[in-house]
Amino acid sequence: MSKWKELEEELKAIVKKSGYDNEIALCTSNRPDLGEYQINDAMKLAKVYHKNPLSIATDILENLKQDNHFVNVNIAGAGFINISLSNSFLVDFMNEIKEDIKLNIDKQEKKLIIIDYGGANVAKALHVGHLRSADIGEALNRLAKLVGHNTIADVHFGDSGLQSGIVIMELESMFPNLICFKNDYSGEEFELPITKEDLKVIYPNGSKKTKENEELLEKARQITYQIQNGHIGYNKLWDKITEISISDIKETYKKLNANFDLWEGERDSFKYIPEMFTHLQKQDLIYTSEGAKVMDVKDEKDDKEIPPIILEKSNGAYLYATTDLATIYGRVKRFAPDEIWYTTDLRQELHFLQVFRAAKKSGIITKTKLGFYGFGTMNGIDGKPFKTRTGGVMSLEDLISLVKKECYERINDNIVDPDKKEETAQIIAIAALKYADLLPFRETDCIFDPAKFSDLEGKTGPYLLYSTIRIKSLLKKAKEENIEYKKFTKINSKTEKDIIINLLNMPSVINRAYESKSLNEVAEYIYKLTSSYNKFYSENKILSEKDADLKTSWLILSKVVYDTNMLLLDLLGIECPEKM
Ligand code: ARG
Repeated sequence: MSKWKELEEELKAIVKKSGYDNEIALCTSNRPDLGEYQINDAMKLAKVYHKNPLSIATDILENLKQDNHFVNVNIAGAGFINISLSNSFLVDFMNEIKEDIKLNIDKQEKKLIIIDYGGANVAKALHVGHLRSADIGEALNRLAKLVGHNTIADVHFGDSGLQSGIVIMELESMFPNLICFKNDYSGEEFELPITKEDLKVIYPNGSKKTKENEELLEKARQITYQIQNGHIGYNKLWDKITEISISDIKETYKKLNANFDLWEGERDSFKYIPEMFTHLQKQDLIYTSEGAKVMDVKDEKDDKEIPPIILEKSNGAYLYATTDLATIYGRVKRFAPDEIWYTTDLRQELHFLQVFRAAKKSGIITKTKLGFYGFGTMNGIDGKPFKTRTGGVMSLEDLISLVKKECYERINDNIVDPDKKEETAQIIAIAALKYADLLPFRETDCIFDPAKFSDLEGKTGPYLLYSTIRIKSLLKKAKEENIEYKKFTKINSKTEKDIIINLLNMPSVINRAYESKSLNEVAEYIYKLTSSYNKFYSENKILSEKDADLKTSWLILSKVVYDTNMLLLDLLGIECPEKM
């Protein structure tokens, strides 16, 4: 149990001893001049116990005063209790966590959670939406593991949509003699003469044609339908394209430190579709509307119209909802997860609402909890969806390059070897992007501003990396000078106390991030902790301090901040370079 939790338990016991048996919450103070923490529950207790809040607060205060963990306890206003922590309590805390920062994390009851994020589309370029899904999804995955859950991360590629028909149509016009296009083709091997670079232009070319020509669009739809229905030649060809594209996409995810356990896609759900339809039909949930197979998912309590979910088009083709529902069917059957989380653009909210309702209504899920954790749009500096100069969607690759260029320029040539510069810029760029992506609340739109993201000062990834590396080199110097630091004994200044209080508060930040499925408070927290440490760093000369106990305590403080930063940066999926 974290010290934070212990403290909450202790306060609960005190409140109980004062005659009030209720849950209470420890809150960080918004009036630090009055105390470091607040207990704001007297009003709530007043309602339960029909007593005046001030007299309740006074009862509690008497008992708080008896406990030597607290100092400066006082009541403000109508019954707000302010408390501060004694130095001896904080010293003990530092000694408890100094070797293993993970002791400062509260574990939850273990669950199995499947996390569906990434969602790149095969044979199409990744864009900023996929960046957000990878960043946020990966951080949520790491968060779930940190608090003790088992997770299965599934990239859920988009590999069954119209792009398959478009790309194959385009390839047929480029290479009409490929054997897979022959009528009597029965699955023989063949060489597909294209590279991942070719693939980058094939889809856009084909897509443009289908927009200009209705007949070609219909042809692409037809091919898509045939792939879904087992056409041997098209499937063989699409497998090959998928292979080329996925190896490329995997490289991008690797750059983004996004790690998946399952590299599956929409197509992997095809094998569950017939079973799923039987399951739905048995319950009479499916009906035909304008030739399409649909299912009602509306609810009496809805305050807006929730349209039926379409599971098969009139031409027999499957849709996004079909593969998502069948994927749930398969996941439940294979893994029986406690929860499945989805991280996509908020604009897909209705889709997931329909799919979740269909899954519940039909009993495809019974105990599994489904969660949609959508994110806002990444806009340009003008506040409009981020576009290239020519008005197209900016590819993720170009986006990373833009930030990398900014970061490259800011690298200190006196510190980083020329042959390490490229690699270092890459690590910093990813940190810059990820931090900026995770800093706003998940649902808030954010602004893509490469120069700002890459700044070495302010709330940025590079600032945090720079500061963390500086602590690391301090600890390295201490080691080179054979300085041992074993026991934390002294808190010498308000700045030091602030840092320790921040460290103590970490579990509450992690717990709230888990509740809200948003890393914004964690991102803010690292900044706050780092800034308070940097203040301390500039106020003191740690290695030349004469008072041995103080120097030891300072080094321990530095180590714990360093470990915390590394733990939390890793939680955000951010790596730290050696130097920068
Ligand atoms: N491929 C989709 C897209 O690019 C995202 C997939 C999200 N996951 C899911 N299970 N639908 O929008």
